[in-house]
Amino acid sequence: MSAAPAASVALEALRRNCAEVPLLTLGEDTAPYLTDHRRLYHGQALAVALPRSAAQVSALLACCHSLGIAVVPQGGNTSYCGGATPDESGQQLVIGLGHMNRVRAIDTANYSITVEAGCLLAHVQRAADAAGCYFPLELGSAGSCQIGGNLATNAGGLNVLRFGMARELALGIEAVLPDGRVFQRLRSLRKDNTGYDLKSLLIGSEGTLGIITAATLKLWPPLRRRATAFVAVADVAAAIALLAQLRAAAGERLHSFELLPRAAVELACRFIADTRAPLDGAHAWYVLCELSSFVDEPLDELLQNALVQASSLGWVLDAALAASEAQRRAFWSLRETIPEAQRRAGPGVKHDISVPVSALPAFVAEASAWVRREVPAGTLVAYGHAGDGNLHFNINWLGGAAAADVARQEPLIRRAIHDLVVAHGGSISAEHGIGRLKVAELQHYTSPVELDLMREIKRALDPKGIMNPGKLLAP
Ligand code: FAD
Ligand code: MLT
Ligand code: ZN
Repeated sequence: MSAAPAASVALEALRRNCAEVPLLTLGEDTAPYLTDHRRLYHGQALAVALPRSAAQVSALLACCHSLGIAVVPQGGNTSYCGGATPDESGQQLVIGLGHMNRVRAIDTANYSITVEAGCLLAHVQRAADAAGCYFPLELGSAGSCQIGGNLATNAGGLNVLRFGMARELALGIEAVLPDGRVFQRLRSLRKDNTGYDLKSLLIGSEGTLGIITAATLKLWPPLRRRATAFVAVADVAAAIALLAQLRAAAGERLHSFELLPRAAVELACRFIADTRAPLDGAHAWYVLCELSSFVDEPLDELLQNALVQASSLGWVLDAALAASEAQRRAFWSLRETIPEAQRRAGPGVKHDISVPVSALPAFVAEASAWVRREVPAGTLVAYGHAGDGNLHFNINWLGGAAAADVARQEPLIRRAIHDLVVAHGGSISAEHGIGRLKVAELQHYTSPVELDLMREIKRALDPKGIMNPGKLLAP
């Protein structure tokens, strides 16, 4: 990237060329935009711009491009990898999308919705609901993250097993390219083979290739039935056997399949008010699984029969079927508050990995043994979207530890766990993205050919390197 202009020159140019865009420069106004959700990174910024339209984003980027001002797009700032936090130079412009939060259109006959990037995920879900439809993306951060951030990170979450990741839910996007040109592809087509899939390239690019300003998303009919169970299983292999059995019994009705160790349940019960373990007794592993249907059919019966059969095979040790919507919500609330419970429990190391579902038992056994041996003061809290082969292989220091001590150990632990992930045919970044946290990991584990292609794409779209420098790709 070329040398950045002096701050006063840059600000003057932004004020002159983008006079209508609110620009925050006072410390107290910019502070919320300068630290990431996990408080791993504390940056500085030239200013925070809060555009209200794609035209305003375009004016901002055109100006930044011509002057060589680096830009950090920011959505709900819930990134787990520091992707939306500016660096410490004070020369980067944060562009917050929160003011672009309108639902532009809903087409119920086409089962699609067009929203601006700054819409909260929960807002999109509610808008779909109000129109008599269902939007399936679901994350614990739904009340804070934005659809633009979800697409920029290709978010996953709790319903990927049935509906896919954010990329698979997008029919079209509108994005502003680094030089200010607008990529207008808000089509709502299910079939569209017209050349390279540029929409898919921008999705998951973590703000390094452009700024997503709107998206057209797939909707579904409303769900008529759900059946949910909290299940104690013998071990991870039993959980995976249960997954296969539920797939065979319920087909595409299998909506979610989450794996939780006892440590995660205990943390949620200890740190989150009004949280109780759904089953008596202490078991090493639990599964939270849900079936859903668009038609009125006896799903409870289907789930119960499958669990009885799994129990006769020794996979299931105990199970509670949600008897009411309140109980179903309580099961999910326990699951969704695990990250917050972990945060309150003190310092920890997070991993967001995936392996083929069939490799999960062996991976968990080997990686757990490594943690027990090499990190004796740590408690493994490995939970997540087992139905997708995606675990948050996290470690907490429950006996207390200084954050700085944990931070010192983190690179070594991360590399050892990632080595095991790769040995099992897995990915070091399943759903949270690379951000700033995993730049060295991407560099280390990606083949030279892939890295070359990524760099060539980056150069082609962002020749001046102004978009989110220091994130995703090493400089
Ligand atoms: P931000 O954090 O603001 O930004 C993330 C990245 O996207 C940054 O690189 C940023 O520069 C870029 N970006 C943001 N908006 C745009 C835009 N409009 N155009 C271009 N680039 C942009 N993630 C999961 O995948 N699955 C989960 O189950 C999950 N659970 C979570 C639970 C909790 C409690 C929390 C706090 C987080 C969780 N996350 C999860 C992580 C996080 O919520 C997701 O990564 C989310 O998609 C980020 O959205 P955001 O709007 O907060 O983006
Ligand atoms: C979740 O699935 O709850 C989050 O993606 C995981 C995390 O907080 O580590
Ligand atoms: Zn997750």
